[in-house]
This record gives sequence, C-alpha cells and structure tokens, in this order.
Amino acid sequence: ASGGGGAASGGSATIEIAVDGENLAFNKTTLEAAAGQQVTLTFKNSSAVQQHNWVLVSGGDSAASTIASDGLAAGLAAQYLPANNPNVVAHTKVLDGGASETITFTAPSAGTYLFICTVPGHYPLMQGTMTVK
Ligand code: CU
Repeated sequence: ASGGGGAASGGSATIEIAVDGENLAFNKTTLEAAAGQQVTLTFKNSSAVQQHNWVLVSGGDSAASTIASDGLAAGLAAQYLPANNPNVVAHTKVLDGGASETITFTAPSAGTYLFICTVPGHYPLMQGTMTVK
C-alpha cells in the first residue's frame, strides 16, 4: 500500500492462528497486517497436551533468540517472557492445551517480524513471519 493522504488507512484486521497438531509449529507460517492497523488476534492452542504462547517480536533472529533464552530464565510465572524487552511487540499468555486467547494490538511500522513460541525448547522450531505493509 502506498502512503500519502491524511486519512488513517487500515482499519482493523482479524487473525486466527493455531498449532499444527502436536508438532512444535504454528498452523500458519505467514501472517499479514497493515502498519498502524488495529489487529485482533486469536491464538488457539489446539495441541492436546503442550503449552504454547504466541509472541510477536521485532529485531529478527537475534532478538528472538534473546527473548526466548531470557524468557526461559524468567520462567512460566513470567509467561516465559523477559520483562521490559522492547522487542516484544505483542504476546499472549502461555496457554494450556485446548485453551485460546484473543489479544489486540496496533500493527507496528512496515517490515517483517517474527512470531515465535517461547515455551522452552519450542524456539527456534516454532516460528513464522508477519509481514507488515
Ligand atoms: Cu510452543
């Protein structure tokens, strides 16, 4: 999409994402949004037994790796997320199998963002990319 114009573009978007069975993978590896758009995202942990979360990160692989390792150290009580890491753009809680959560956030500026699961051992296997246009 091109810029210009004074009117806010985008409006809102609704995204649904789940887990690929009992694999350490989301059921979608690519998502899209428009910069500044209000995103309503529902993550359903469709696994029967494993915990998962959904975390949108900026800064690419190195930032995601840091978030995953610091999240591991922070533990489940912290949702396996580091406190005050500016590269965490949006996230759900850690969800038990069968649970779901809907979050809303403003899509960040245009670019490519990783979404990951920070439950121990799931990153880097469990990830995808959100393209913001
Ligand atoms: Cu996971």
